[in-house]
Amino acid sequence: MKITRFSRIGFILAAAGSAVGLGNIWKFPYITGEYGGGAFVLVYLLTVLLIGFSIMLAEMLIGYLGRKDTVTSFEELAPKHKSLWKFGGFQGIAGLLIMVFYSVVIGWIFNYIVTSLTSLPSSVKEAEETFNLMLHTGFYTQFFYHTIAFLVVTYVLHKGIKGGIEKINLILMPALIIILSVMFIYAMTLDSFSRSLEFMFAPDWSKLSSEAFVTAVGHAFFTLSLGMGAIMTYAASMEKGTNIVKAAFWVVFLDTAIAIVAGLMLFTFLYQYGSGPAKGPGLVFISLPAAFYEMGVLGNIFAVLFFVALAFAGLTSAVSLVEPMVQYFIDRFSWSRLKASVMMGGFFWLVGIITILSGLDGAKEFLTWGGKNFFDWVDYITAAIMLPLGGLIMAVFVGFIMPKSQVEATMQPFLGWAFAPWYFSLRYITPVAMFIVMLNLMGIF
Ligand code: PHE
Repeated sequence: MKITRFSRIGFILAAAGSAVGLGNIWKFPYITGEYGGGAFVLVYLLTVLLIGFSIMLAEMLIGYLGRKDTVTSFEELAPKHKSLWKFGGFQGIAGLLIMVFYSVVIGWIFNYIVTSLTSLPSSVKEAEETFNLMLHTGFYTQFFYHTIAFLVVTYVLHKGIKGGIEKINLILMPALIIILSVMFIYAMTLDSFSRSLEFMFAPDWSKLSSEAFVTAVGHAFFTLSLGMGAIMTYAASMEKGTNIVKAAFWVVFLDTAIAIVAGLMLFTFLYQYGSGPAKGPGLVFISLPAAFYEMGVLGNIFAVLFFVALAFAGLTSAVSLVEPMVQYFIDRFSWSRLKASVMMGGFFWLVGIITILSGLDGAKEFLTWGGKNFFDWVDYITAAIMLPLGGLIMAVFVGFIMPKSQVEATMQPFLGWAFAPWYFSLRYITPVAMFIVMLNLMGIF
């Protein structure tokens, strides 16, 4: 089998492409709205800096040294109890589960690109009706666009690391950055920009419930693509000698910058032309289109550009959500890339149909438990539980299981004096923080 590797810039763009996704542009703004702004943003930023960055390095290290699918990498790097540690690699399953709703949301975005070309809703109420119509009754529309997302992702995956994943990121990532920059510069010229700044950065601690705290930590993992082996799998195809620390820095920087830029821009538009920070997943699908309407023709152009950028962000992440399991079946079961891509794609395509049904009138009643429907449950279980748990396993693995000499030999040249604080953070800060999150999730405090 021919081994292909990312070029250096290809790796950074692919890893950043994985990180920058619906999490940054769709989820971050709406959960920030939901949990009241500033304080939530601060917890998120601190988690990214103190925990996210260290785990990103740990994940890259395991992939870089393991050179194989995640399961094999864990197995080979564990000095003993190999058959136990290999389970650390099965976190890739979380990616497939995330795709079960991610692909459906990418489908909504495709639909919005098409409809924004011709018309925008003239009020929030109308926008809400349109969105709800799609959600509650639009089975075929959602199914159609979800299928397109499945086809694109599967096609890219079957083309492999160089011809598929690197290529799509080399094109879509710069395009995304250009589109967002243009729109952000425009937002900066509006009066409401300062209100948006205040909403995002002036913390109101009374709004920080323990649920907000867990969501912020969970989101930091989700947005950096940590804890499920996406970054690890990409790192396995890194060119030898790539500076891991530099690469991780760029990924964390781009991901955070894009989330902040998207949030500031959207809240500016919502203050200026709309109804203020909306709460809930409808933010970009309901409040935003209504705000774009108020801008006139420019609004139409912006709406299309915005949804195109969002689709680009979503697709590059989607590919990375599925690749770990594709790589797993190639390495462990000698499947062809085509077979592995089609099988994994087929899985999220089929189960994705349940996600669509869970919003649909007549079906959603059967797919809702304890106030959360199937979609919410999959989102919650993956982002709040599986990814932090995966991150914890990686931190413990690099911090305590791999021989320190091996970790040091690879990381010291890149990290220098920062090696000791990084190692400390992996061994003590991350596990303690994750433990608190877990206790909180179990309702213990
Ligand atoms: N980071 C992606 C986003 O923000 C989602 C993702 C999570 C991708 C985990 C890969 C792995 O949308």
